[in-house]
Parts: sequence; structure tokens; C-alpha cells
Amino acid sequence: MCKQIMCGIAGYVGPRKAVDVVFDQLKRLEYRGYDSAGVAYLENGDINVLKRAGKLNELTGLMADGTPNVHLAIAHSRWATHGAPTDENAHPHFDQFEQISIIHNGIIENYLDLKAELAQQGSEFRSDTDTEVAAHVIGCEYTEGVALEEAVRRAVKRLRGAYALVVVSKREPEKIVCARNASPLVIGLGEGETMLASDIPALLPYTRSVIILEDDRIAVLLPEGVRVTNLDGQELPVTPLHIDWDVSAAEKGGYEHFMLKEIHEQPEVVRQCLAGRVDDKGRARLDNVFGQSVWNNTDRIVIVACGTSYHAGLMGKYLFEKLLRLPTDVFHASEFRYGDPVLSPNSLALFISQSGETADTLAALKLCQARRIRTLGIVNVIGSSIARECDRTIITQAGPEISVASTKAFTAQVIALVLLMLHVAQEKEMPGVRVEEITRDLLELPELAQRAMLAEGEIIRAAEKMRDAKLVFFLGRGADALVALEGALKLKEIAYVATQESPAGEMKHGPLALVEKGVFAVMGATESEMREKLASNIKEMQARGGQVLAITTEGDDLIPKIAEFVVRLPKSGSEFLNALLSIIPMQLLAYHLARLNGCEIDQPRNLAKSVTVE
Ligand code: F6R
Repeated sequence: MCKQIMCGIAGYVGPRKAVDVVFDQLKRLEYRGYDSAGVAYLENGDINVLKRAGKLNELTGLMADGTPNVHLAIAHSRWATHGAPTDENAHPHFDQFEQISIIHNGIIENYLDLKAELAQQGSEFRSDTDTEVAAHVIGCEYTEGVALEEAVRRAVKRLRGAYALVVVSKREPEKIVCARNASPLVIGLGEGETMLASDIPALLPYTRSVIILEDDRIAVLLPEGVRVTNLDGQELPVTPLHIDWDVSAAEKGGYEHFMLKEIHEQPEVVRQCLAGRVDDKGRARLDNVFGQSVWNNTDRIVIVACGTSYHAGLMGKYLFEKLLRLPTDVFHASEFRYGDPVLSPNSLALFISQSGETADTLAALKLCQARRIRTLGIVNVIGSSIARECDRTIITQAGPEISVASTKAFTAQVIALVLLMLHVAQEKEMPGVRVEEITRDLLELPELAQRAMLAEGEIIRAAEKMRDAKLVFFLGRGADALVALEGALKLKEIAYVATQESPAGEMKHGPLALVEKGVFAVMGATESEMREKLASNIKEMQARGGQVLAITTEGDDLIPKIAEFVVRLPKSGSEFLNALLSIIPMQLLAYHLARLNGCEIDQPRNLAKSVTVE
């Protein structure tokens, strides 16, 4: 299997200039990362296709004299998987008869078998893509007298894998037909216009009324609305969701980059994540999460996630074990799904995902379902696959995260984990957990997070000195060591700086050999009991020519005396919340170092927002 990162999909049918709309929608999906783009539109009974390798402006440049006055178009931004990023491999693709044109997000796993079968029947292929094979399969089914919707239905039954397929036809030029299995597809309903996209922010300027297409569904879009059917052709009722996100929440809102905007949104994100979840008695209130009988019978928590969400999971383990004494293991989803995990009926599996679409996490969830283990999700995107598939889901309420590097989602995930920990403590009646004190500290956190932003000046000063760093260590102890892992990931992915992350106490067991002049360390030092030990670690670094940026809390008079750069965070009554706050200066460091080095911050090289196929 190859690794695929989500492509952008857009489609429109209605009175506006359709090509302008789909280009605008693709622009709003640019954060996904892509290497080619294309459009298909219906004009005088013909399908016109334009596509180009490169960024969207390569494509829009082809229409420098103006876009055509047409009312139906589909468009795609591709991240190469099968075949290099070339003009030929860009979507849309025609079928063998040039009757239809399609765009696709996902991977057709049996495309080689299908391709061989089609080639025998005379199909000739112009690209190396699995998508073109899917187009030919639909072409085969789209015989005289068969409607496009039915042809797509028959075709998808022959496809194996993940797809969001969008199809237009010369024979039925007034409609768009789409089908979904495991790749996201949302439909927007407007006044006399209907549209679709692979993600909600692309639709927000046009409509707030959205249908999240489920797996194994076919939808037919006409200007007057949408008809959704299952694979047997039965029409199904649809209930549109009303999306009340502010459009500006999905745009940069005055910041130079989405990442910076999202870092600065964190005080508000904490507020939103807590909204309605702490009652006036200071108790956590999580609706729709398992109750007492389940928690009393749960003897182990298994947390499964990838990347940043995995790091949030490590904080979950810290909280569940330290405060609830509940054994907890955290797995990378990619390892878990193939690792034949030991799961007892009393285990509870917790899946953490910003997008709710990460393929490995979803596969791990399906494995737990097959083993009949209870599943709980912590997810940001409402209506996403993981949010829907888990027995219960806590939505992090962080709003759309556009920057590829995850920032505010991490903070919201950890807050959700703290709330969950409190909920379990309440359900299990554990007087040892200071629920009211912790909720009070949580409610103060937005204010503290706001004050943590004041570190930006010192961070910029440190970033200027670290511009040519050979290597940056991320160190800490306890919860600080966990947040340090996430800080290191940010620096790697955004600023392309090599990092080495480890608990500070491990340094002398090997990594210290890497320290010399030009090497820096970011040291999380928010836990007061650990400071003397961390002071020794700082000296170890300095004795070998290294320099240290220490993140400590107000009132510490030890670390600021020795570290070269110091950030003092406001102090929370709950030490693990101090550690959580330390992610803010680390995110800002990654951002400013990347900016100084001229990196493409919101779309770092080789990465994109959602990894929807293995
Ligand atoms: C890092 C980052 C990734 C994601 C990971 C999981 O900044 O964004 O490491 O955290 O791909 O994605 P979700 O949380 O959407 O499952």
C-alpha cells in the first residue's frame, strides 16, 4: 500500500459562474497540500477538461482571459499517489468513450486487476492513475438506456478501496453524481444551487446547510437539491446539518499564517472546549459518555492515535494513571492495527483524532469494533468517520484547523482528556481526585493561555539565535517530557530543523554525545519538584557548548539564573496544566524559526492535513 494524503474536491451546479465557484472552493482547500489541479465543466453539451501539474494558479492561468459562463463544474487538487504529478495524471479523467469525466479522492485497491480486465476489452489509458481506471469502469456500465446514477452504482460495486468519486456526463449535463466510501464528501444546499466538497470550509461562503455523505451512498446533485440513495437504489432521507462556524474562523483573520492564527486562538479554544462542560457545582459534565457501570468494569484504557493526537494520548495516560490509577497504554495507530494487540473485554479503546478521518486510526477502531471492545472517540470534526463510528464521541469543539501543523487541536484534545478523567473520577466516586479544584483551574486556563502568548517576544529573540541550529533537543521530566515530544514535532515539520527528544534524565545514557557548540535545548521545566534535577541537565548541556531555552513558571528563581533564554508561564494550581501551557511557547518557536528561515508554514513540504489512506 502506498501512503496517500487527501486531495481536494469541489463541485457546483446552479446559477453562478460554476468555474469561478469551484476555483474558489479549491483555494479554500489549499491547506491540504497538492501537486496538480484540474477542472471539468459542461459547455454546449460537451465536457471541457483543463488540468495542470503545479499549484492552482497554473490552472487558473489557463483562463487568464476569463472563465466560461457555465453553470456546472467539478474541480480537483491532487496529491500524487499512483503516478507522478504530471498534467496527464491530474484529475479529471475521462472514460474510454469520453462520455463522462471524474475526479476522485482515495485509492482504488483493485485497480491493477480492473485495469488488466479493461485493457483486454480494448480500454487504452492515458495516465497511470487508479482514478482513470475507475472512470473506465463507470464508462463500461454507462451503456445505452442506463442512467449515470445507476452506472456509478454498478461501478462502485466493482471497486475495492477508499473513494469519494464525483462524475459528470455529456448525456446528462444538468447533474453531478457522486459516491462515497471511506473518503470524506460533503454536500452543500443553497437557494437554487447545490455544491460539494471534500471538506466543510470550502462550502461556508455559499451555504451553511450541509449533508455529510455516508459510506456506500450515491448522491445526485441538481440545482434544486440532492437525492441520496444506497447501493440498492433505495432513496434515503437526508437531514442537513446547520454549520454555524464563522467564515472568518476558516480564514486567516488578519494573521500572516493560519498556524499563527490557530496558536493565538488557543485561549478561546479552551473556553469553547469547556463550554457547557463544567456545572455550577464545579463538576465535569460530559454528556453521552459511558456511565458508572462501564467505568467500574473498565480495567484498562487503550489509547490509539497518530502524530500530535498520539502526543495528546500520552498526556491522557499520564492523567489516567496518575490521578485515576487506571492502567493505560498509548499506541501509534499504524502499529496497533498490525500488532495483534492484547485486548480484554474490560478494556476500553479511546481514539483521538483532529480530522476524524486518519486511515490508520480508523482501521484500529474497526479492529476494536470487531473484537467487541467499547470505543470512545475524541474528535474535532463533527460528522467525520471516527466521530460517527465510535460508540461514544467527545467533540473537542476547537473549530476548523486549517494549518497542516496541528496546534489548537492538541490543546483541545488534552482539555477533553482532563474532562474525561474528571468524569471517570466522578462516576467511580473517587474522593482522592480534587474535581472542584481541577475544574476551577480549567476555567482559569483561558486567561493563563492568553498570558502565555506574552512569551512571543522572548521566543522571537531565541529563534533568531537558533536560526542555524545544528540540532535542537526537547527535554523535560514528567508531563513536561510528554509535551516536549509535541514541541519537537512542531519544529521538525514546520521549520525542518532536526530534533532529538527525550526525558531529560536519559541524556547521559547516550544522547549527550550529540551536544556541542551550535546545539540547543528547549527545556520544559514547569514542574517545581523537578527543577533542581533540570538545572543539572541544563548545566550538562552548557558544559558541552549547548544553549538552553527554558520554559518555567512564574516564581521560579532557579532556572532563570542559568538558562540563556527563559519563558515564564503564569502558574496554574494543577501542574499538568502548566505543562500543557508550555506547548504555546514551543509552537511559537517552531512558527518563528520557520518564518525566519522562509519556510512554507501552512503547507510544509511532504505533508498535508489529513492522511486518509494508509
Ligand atoms: C502534526 C499533525 C499530524 C496529525 C496526525 C493525526 O502537526 O498534524 O501529526 O496529528 O496526522 O491526525 P488526526 O489528529 O487528524 O488523526
